[in-house]
Amino acid sequence: MAENSSTIITAQQHIMREQKRFPGASGEFSFLLSGITLATKMIQAQVRKAGLTDVLGEHGEINVQGEIQQKLDVISNEALVHCLSSRESIGVLASEENEEPMLVHKGSDEAKYAVVFDPLDGSSNIDVNVSVGTTFSILRKPDDVAMDNPEQWVLQPGSKQVAAGYVVYGSSTILVYSAGNGVHGFTLDPAVGAYFLSHPNMTMPDQGKYYSVNEAYRDGFPARYGDYIDRLRSGVLGRKYASRYIGSMVADFHRTLLKGGVFLYPPTEDNKEGKLRLLYEANPVAFLAEQAGGTAIDGEKRILDIEPTSIHQRTPLIVGSRVELADFESFAQTN
Ligand code: AHG
Ligand code: MN
Ligand code: MN
Repeated sequence: MAENSSTIITAQQHIMREQKRFPGASGEFSFLLSGITLATKMIQAQVRKAGLTDVLGEHGEINVQGEIQQKLDVISNEALVHCLSSRESIGVLASEENEEPMLVHKGSDEAKYAVVFDPLDGSSNIDVNVSVGTTFSILRKPDDVAMDNPEQWVLQPGSKQVAAGYVVYGSSTILVYSAGNGVHGFTLDPAVGAYFLSHPNMTMPDQGKYYSVNEAYRDGFPARYGDYIDRLRSGVLGRKYASRYIGSMVADFHRTLLKGGVFLYPPTEDNKEGKLRLLYEANPVAFLAEQAGGTAIDGEKRILDIEPTSIHQRTPLIVGSRVELADFESFAQTN
């Protein structure tokens, strides 16, 4: 719930206030975002009863990433596609679970936004009651791109995102989003079925006490990543870091946003480009991190400056607090 009863603000009210900053947006942007809030409420309802109903386990298909789809991946994707494709302001939907971006409302002048999403992040945690989430990124169709060329709607650097966010289905369900004017968190009150502003103007602490990485792959990281982890553990940054790794990027990032520290998914032996997807995993968290005072890089450059060449492309990701990222950047330059 909100901080006190006199300041109850729902996500819907907040979004309507935000859209006043978009000239001529006239309700369409809040209607678009209400598609996301509705879909994520539907997803969380399924996640909350996983185990009771037959939604656990593998779906039996391999997705475009070559990964086994879980049933909840498919259910979550359908919820988002269903809720968003009825919003006239949306022209293109692109999902981790679909090889090609989908053109919706073809030819409509109203359609000017693309929504790119990972319907369910952290699938491997579903069957064991560990936090999972949804990530999304919203882009505007560039003026010079043809209506019927959906790929070009979404192949834009993350700096062009008009809004981005995620939902974590954790101990509670929380929606965190930014439309370029700070980062705001809304906790779902399941009894009411509405998201209420619980974390206004979120900022990332300048320094944290945790690093977050799958250390089992360390031998396959480029050497400077292992050396950097040793630095964090050694105390040279004024404290000896502890580690936390959930294995759902969205949940690991949420902790990093609230508590500070650094999350890394470096290149590995199996994934030379890193594992995480630029458009619907790295870009949304990079946008939120920067809005909250943190930093996000691919090991060398700013995530939000990467010009994508394909929808499902991967990138290494290092995201977190100013102090840890400044140390990585200065340390990596000399190593
Ligand atoms: P997804 O479930 O959408 O495929 O994403 C899983 C990702 C991400 O959430 C997490 O950070 C990473 O996979 C964990 O990978 P490892 O098991 O290799 O650590
Ligand atoms: Mn994911
Ligand atoms: Mn996923």
